[in-house]
Amino acid sequence: FAFDEVSEAEITKVLAKYPPERKASGALPLLYIVQDQMKRQTGSAWVPTVAMDVVAERLDVAPIRIYEVATFYTMFNLKPIGKYHLQVCTTTSCWLRGSDDVLGACKKAAGIAHVGGTSADGLFTLSEAECLGACANAPILQVDNDFYEDLDGPRTEALIAALRRDEVPQPGPTNGRHGSEPEGGRR
Ligand code: FES
Repeated sequence: FAFDEVSEAEITKVLAKYPPERKASGALPLLYIVQDQMKRQTGSAWVPTVAMDVVAERLDVAPIRIYEVATFYTMFNLKPIGKYHLQVCTTTSCWLRGSDDVLGACKKAAGIAHVGGTSADGLFTLSEAECLGACANAPILQVDNDFYEDLDGPRTEALIAALRRDEVPQPGPTNGRHGSEPEGGRR
């Protein structure tokens, strides 16, 4: 693994934020840069071990320091995944608001039998996620780095059908909600 030109430009920006003796602080951003580059180059966002070694070398830290970060945070995929990563929040607020329907719609529309699986066409990988921090707009589906809110089964299926056509719908509310102001604005 070697960083490409786009990644190198990003790394320069990241490392400029830290004093040279603290550049290990760039571990998380550099792992994201790896994952983005893998997505650009292979269509699958993941972090190979060999790339962790390259990050460690760039940050002058022992490889174990990078392995422990990459394996701790769930946003780093440690093996290849589908083109789109569907992450359904199934924590309490989303569960109460119908995350089971969202999960079921994902399985049906993406053609995935079990959570953790990837569709046969390689387009989708399905995961369950813990609270994504948008409980007021539950249930939530994260697709790669985008968040879709207020979902139900049919809207989830429509979203996945759009992704299949290579269209990425506008993230945010999916039920026509605009902002959180009461009708007629704040008084
Ligand atoms: Fe799903 Fe918080 S419980 S976003």
